[in-house]
Amino acid sequence: MYVIFFGPPGVGKGTQAAIVAERTGWAHISTGDMLRAHVRDGTDLGHKAKAFMNKGLLVPDDLVIDMFMARLAEIGDRGFVLDGFPRTLAQARALDAALARGGGAIDLAINITAPDSVLVERMMGRAAESGRADDTPEAIRVRIEVQKPSAELLDHYRRAGKLKDVDGRPAVPQVTEAIMAALGVAGVSPQSPR
Ligand code: AP5
Ligand code: MG
Repeated sequence: MYVIFFGPPGVGKGTQAAIVAERTGWAHISTGDMLRAHVRDGTDLGHKAKAFMNKGLLVPDDLVIDMFMARLAEIGDRGFVLDGFPRTLAQARALDAALARGGGAIDLAINITAPDSVLVERMMGRAAESGRADDTPEAIRVRIEVQKPSAELLDHYRRAGKLKDVDGRPAVPQVTEAIMAALGVAGVSPQSPR
């Protein structure tokens, strides 16, 4: 199954995607984690992406799409959960086209929601241990302002009947159960190996 997690910065996409990937055996693809690895390794892409990321801005589509497609090609027949991609309509269209070439399509997009006050609290809480260069008050402010999923991006999936909202405010296990229920409704057996 091919699933997207949408949601504003700090809502819990990465936390939930890791849990769902472990339970289902699907690949977890986080473009934020991939970009941070490029910055850490000092690659050409990392140098180009760093300034955008540290300011809390989106990295340009062409850079992110090329990086994502290379990763997608590696995962073979497994399902996946996407965390932080697509972020723009151009990325969504590139994803649709790539999946269509293999006869596939996105099955479900889950939009995790929470008010700004919760997002700020979670990102500030993570700042101390994460060492993320964008977990500063100024970058957090910009990310919340410019990086919420746009209406046109959500509508792209809503119009196809593939978008479900999940309340991101409760504790981690409750949010996981709401997501697994949404996946179950969409045809996945929400079984935990544990
Ligand atoms: P990315 O890494 O995707 O950052 P983000 O969208 O800002 O999201 P975060 O990773 O900050 O939050 P999250 O939703 O994953 O929450 P988390 O689970 O960590 O992107 C970073 C940058 O890369 C972007 O700014 C952009 O520059 C660039 N980029 C990436 N993808 C791109 C793309 N496609 N196009 C262009 N640019 C791109 O949780 C947050 C904290 O809250 C944690 O401490 C967690 O433990 C805690 N928490 C989680 N859930 C709960 C809960 N239910 N209750 C209490 N605490 C919780
Ligand atoms: Mg994340």
